Amino acid sequence: MGWMCCICGLSTVIYPISQGRKRHGPLESSPMMENPSLVLEKTLAIFGFPLGHTMSPVLHNAAAAALGEPYRFLAYEVRPERIEEAFRGSQAMGFAGLCITIPHKIAIHGLVDELSEDARIMGAVNVVVFEPGGKSVGHNTDGIGWLRSLEEETGETPEGKRCLILGAGGAARAVGVKLAQSGAAHIEIRNRTPEKAEALARFIGEKVPGSAVNGGGLDDLAEAAADREIIVHTTSQGMTGDPAREAAIPIPEEAIPSGVICTDAVYNPVETVFLKAARGRGARTVSGIGWFVNQGAAAWKLWTGTDMPKELTRKSVLEALGAA
Ligand code: ATR
Repeated sequence: MGWMCCICGLSTVIYPISQGRKRHGPLESSPMMENPSLVLEKTLAIFGFPLGHTMSPVLHNAAAAALGEPYRFLAYEVRPERIEEAFRGSQAMGFAGLCITIPHKIAIHGLVDELSEDARIMGAVNVVVFEPGGKSVGHNTDGIGWLRSLEEETGETPEGKRCLILGAGGAARAVGVKLAQSGAAHIEIRNRTPEKAEALARFIGEKVPGSAVNGGGLDDLAEAAADREIIVHTTSQGMTGDPAREAAIPIPEEAIPSGVICTDAVYNPVETVFLKAARGRGARTVSGIGWFVNQGAAAWKLWTGTDMPKELTRKSVLEALGAA
């Protein structure tokens, strides 16, 4: 069996020719060449706190296995006060890239060497690419992931549509910016804490000049939803884990107009109480799975340059959730 040594960025990868991978550099003698069972993979990881729920390792390890790519994806719970150390450590150890989740997306935005346009506009980073040489580039794939799931599952785009976002956190910000960039006719943001919705509306208005955005509380949701064509739920209501939260619906059932498209950020359970009610009202529904897979596929493309096999990885995630 032959061996190849490939120096890609800060990671060394050694693998057998029989696996069909390209040769990137000269053969060198190393302990691994004497022991064919040792293969150094490139490391990808997610940093968040807490992290018990993450399906990112399932998604990305399924992609690596299916494509025969030498990546391994790990999950690390990193406390907020140690995020800078963890970030610098991963850079020093030659990680290929990171997924960043709650509560670190804004902190990492301030630590990377460069920002993509979406990360700069959204003020948050959910993906880091460590380039060869170690430079870190922060990206945000949350907005594009949502948009692609909408397009894939409904064939629709937000252009010219009246939209309602429920919630005003990081996910709402990413979707709100993407809706505005995509030419939505009007964006209404409603949140338990109205001031946050108002602040997010001002933020989007500044970042995407010409967009029509308004923020408010949850008191007159039926009125706010009546003329909408897309409703995007971004709070944690309906999520598995705590029975009261799982049973909660972010908008009264009777306030959901028939024919509207309802999308949910929650993907566990796959059909939330909100989506079930929306279906019952004659709405078209888009579960959080497509959003999750598409934000991950965009990250995967940035790290590896290859297309994630989305049907296969989606199936792996559904199996891991017990929903296949
Ligand atoms: P993410 O980055 O996933 O959007 P986040 O920034 O923590 O997460 O935002 C959570 C959102 O869920 C917020 O809009 C929050 O409302 P507040 O701003 O009032 O806190 C909303 N949220 C969380 N729990 C909620 C609940 N029980 N009822 C209504 N909204 C809730």
